[in-house]
Amino acid sequence: MFQRPRGTRDFGPDEMARRQWALDVMRKVAISRGFGEIQMPIFEDIELFTKKSGPGIVEELYAFKDKGDRDIALRPEMTAQVMRFYVNEMTSLPKPIKMFYFGPCFRYENPQSGRYREFYQFGAEIIGSNTPETDAEAVALASSMIESIGLDNYVIRLGYIGILRNMLRDLKLTEEKISEGMHYLDKNDEAKFTLFAKDNRLPDDKVRGMMSIRNMKGGIEILDGLEECSAKAYLQEFMGCLSLLGVKNCQLDLGIVRGLDYYTGMVFEIDAPALGAEKQVAGGGSYDLVPLFGGEQVFTTGFAIGFDRILIAREKESTITIDAGIDAYVVPMSDGTRKTAIELVAALRKSGLSVDFDIMRRSLSKNLKYAASIGARNVVIIGDKELAKGAATLRDMATGEQKEISMASIAEAISRKKQN
Ligand code: HAM
Repeated sequence: MFQRPRGTRDFGPDEMARRQWALDVMRKVAISRGFGEIQMPIFEDIELFTKKSGPGIVEELYAFKDKGDRDIALRPEMTAQVMRFYVNEMTSLPKPIKMFYFGPCFRYENPQSGRYREFYQFGAEIIGSNTPETDAEAVALASSMIESIGLDNYVIRLGYIGILRNMLRDLKLTEEKISEGMHYLDKNDEAKFTLFAKDNRLPDDKVRGMMSIRNMKGGIEILDGLEECSAKAYLQEFMGCLSLLGVKNCQLDLGIVRGLDYYTGMVFEIDAPALGAEKQVAGGGSYDLVPLFGGEQVFTTGFAIGFDRILIAREKESTITIDAGIDAYVVPMSDGTRKTAIELVAALRKSGLSVDFDIMRRSLSKNLKYAASIGARNVVIIGDKELAKGAATLRDMATGEQKEISMASIAEAISRKKQN
């Protein structure tokens, strides 16, 4: 017996129907706000992810050499890919460029509920605009997508990573050291951060200042405790835009650091508290990757939703019921009626109905049982006697009611029932 690799999952038809429903709904929301869908490869040159994603991601990469001796990694996220795509092929497109994407990502993590080695992200990026309304548009899309699948219990935490980053930068630390310090703050590892501060001789008052900013959480009024600076003015305008766009469930959290290293300004995370330890269902912010990939400086902002996690959170609130099943299941009662049954199946399918039929040559009772199990709304039974009259029996699976009906009017009868 082969076991699935640790941290991966198989999805059966019922689960796929629910996932596909959620994906369709979210896709529609993104398209309705002017975002266009893109797709990138699942593997890339490893350097795309080691250049700026930060130590958290690099430690978790699935990496290998291909037959051409190239260093390859399975993508741990997709923002770096979108930026590569933009630099290679999209720089001359009219700005802003608004794009979204969906697909599997891979991180060698410790698997647990809501944390997988293969997981799915639904993300979006906006390239080429640096106003507060641009960041607000990204957050508004994330929250609308979450609401579109009916998840009610979520909180959007908003911050500005530039504040803590600039405090470390002002202390003349190298970019590598800044990234190390931010990593400890992201992991909430106060012991390691204190040691880091000591090793790098950071003044106590500055460390205390950073710690106090890290703990600033609440409504817009917490900004009163912040010295006047461009970040404060930005956050005030940004929060105003969010409110105008009707985004609910927002609170400020200046301690957000994010696991990835490329963020520069506004950052946000969305939690679904019902999920417990793995409650973060989305994360994003404005970031800087394009110059690193050889393009001209351009403002970029975006987010990714953990698709698996929002579905778990949504299903904790209530079951997703999908109107699955098929319009009709066709059963030939004998060898003599099989040809007509198959012709009928083809004709019904051509008329746009969803139709399946008995391919195992089983008895009527077994077929009725099977038809019920696959959610067939009608069963068409073709017996020799009825066929001689050019008719068949149409059985309504909900009521059990059966009536003889001419072959020529079966499609219309099923379609009519569908509309009622
Ligand atoms: P991230 O926060 O690393 O951001 O991932 C986004 C979301 O993916 C997380 O909030 C979480 O819900 C989900 N996620 C991450 N790791 C796992 C896992 N092992 N299992 C299940 N779900 C997981 C990014 O990836 C950025 N690229 C987001 C972004 C886009 N920033 C700007 N643009």
